[in-house]
Amino acid sequence: MSDTVAAAWRAVEREGERLRTLSLRTLFARAPERFASFSFGHEDLLVDLSKEKVDRPALDALLALAEAAELPAWREALFTGRRVNATEDRAALHMALRGGTDPDVAVGGSAVLPEVEEVRERFLAFARDVRSGRYGACGGGPFTDVLHIGIGGSHLGPEMAVRALRPDHDGPRVHFVSNVDGSDLADASARLDPARTLVLVASKTFTTLETMTNARSARRWLEGAVAGRAAAHMAAISSNVEAAADFGIEGDRVFGFRDWVGGRYSLWSAVGLPVAIAVGPDRFRALLAGAAAMDRHFRGAPLERNLPVLMGLMSVWRRNVMGWPSVALIPYDQRLGRFPAYVQQLAMESNGKRVARDGTPAARPTAPVVWGEPGTNAQHSFFQLLHQGTDVVPVEFIIAAEARNAVGGDHHRLLVANCLAQGQALAFGRTGEEAQRAPTASGAAGPDADRLAPHRSFPGDRPSTTVAHRRLDARTLGRLIALYEHRVFVESVLWGVNPFDQWGVELGKALAERLQPALAGAPLPAGTDSSTAGLVVHLRRSAAG
Ligand code: F6P
Repeated sequence: MSDTVAAAWRAVEREGERLRTLSLRTLFARAPERFASFSFGHEDLLVDLSKEKVDRPALDALLALAEAAELPAWREALFTGRRVNATEDRAALHMALRGGTDPDVAVGGSAVLPEVEEVRERFLAFARDVRSGRYGACGGGPFTDVLHIGIGGSHLGPEMAVRALRPDHDGPRVHFVSNVDGSDLADASARLDPARTLVLVASKTFTTLETMTNARSARRWLEGAVAGRAAAHMAAISSNVEAAADFGIEGDRVFGFRDWVGGRYSLWSAVGLPVAIAVGPDRFRALLAGAAAMDRHFRGAPLERNLPVLMGLMSVWRRNVMGWPSVALIPYDQRLGRFPAYVQQLAMESNGKRVARDGTPAARPTAPVVWGEPGTNAQHSFFQLLHQGTDVVPVEFIIAAEARNAVGGDHHRLLVANCLAQGQALAFGRTGEEAQRAPTASGAAGPDADRLAPHRSFPGDRPSTTVAHRRLDARTLGRLIALYEHRVFVESVLWGVNPFDQWGVELGKALAERLQPALAGAPLPAGTDSSTAGLVVHLRRSAAG
């Protein structure tokens, strides 16, 4: 770490020392206009950081750290196709898939956009044909259902986006299977007619155990209905187009993408095909356009008004300065129900790293645990711990100003009020004295109110960020996803790690492959530990009844 970076970290830590002793109540009392100073916008998107435990000097120190860590240079390296993924010797150019780079961006001397546009036109034309029935079931008639098979980055993005854009669905029904647990495929296919179902197999590598196992089983399931013609009911999305062809899928239904698209950054490629089939090519293009607008903002806006930069700095502040190891992502939007799982992979697979880019131990803790569920449901499950538990868990709320459903009534007003109220309760809490004064549900007063006061008081001083937007449509979803993608990149620069590899997933895969024969009765691999050996024997006996 250079002396400049080390000095910038020390300055940030000094701000942390000072702010640790100041509560959010105090910060608001000292600067009642905090909202005006700490909320930042892009189009209708607002990121409110006023309930984070920062003030102007702290934010300035964080911005100086971003400069010292050469964030602007790293950002430019990313956008210009430099091999920022050094351990795999690759660029990370997912922005090119959505028009978020310069038109002449190149990798290894070759311009990338001509191929991107060619594949995009091809898979969007295919989506159009499936939707219209022009490409239909081999026994005649349009496909009524699409079954998408993929896992991790080849699953979470499309599943999340299809659910988020439900009001825009006007294509065939879309279903998802990811787990190698056969129950996933069994339950999804039980509701479907194979003679009217199109199966999409999405896998960047086209070797992933779960996806290939499900793809083979799905092909058998199709064969039962359309003997000898199952391949006509299948399409593939992969950067390994040879393997997809070897699987038996015709080349005109194989949609490729390059190795410079990471799995968890691949929604914008043909991996988004189920989204395009569900909501149509125009809305898919709107999703891309939204993400490209966020790319332009991230690349061009000054750091002090740059949403992904500011949110990335907040991550570093919470994780490294305040020492909070987890963050709850709570969209107050039922249709964003899978957004926390999507961001979880994005953030934890990208920055869950223990060594820096050069292989030396990371100087500081890296990615926090990201988890969450939609509100208001979450309020009735784990919010108790967020308010009164012994650990501080920063919360990120996402809320739309406008509903996208025809239910009407009070629903959306209540949803918004609950979201804002949770941020208030977390930040300002309720003192023992206030708790004594506040009526209990049973109307307890006097000694009973005294006895209950410690239980009914809230420490407060628990930070949150609120991300507000006008309404959840395709363009806004694109902006939201790209906001989180770039925020993860900002974090990686400040932590000095490579966010585009994922070596940590390999060992478990290799061990599973070695153990699998033993579960079928073969001897255990030499050197198997007694715990695993005992479990194998127990499960084998248990399965045999
Ligand atoms: O095991 C992790 C992982 O490699 C992810 O990074 C990836 O998104 C997922 O598996 C699926 O990989 P593929 O798209 O190659 O099937």
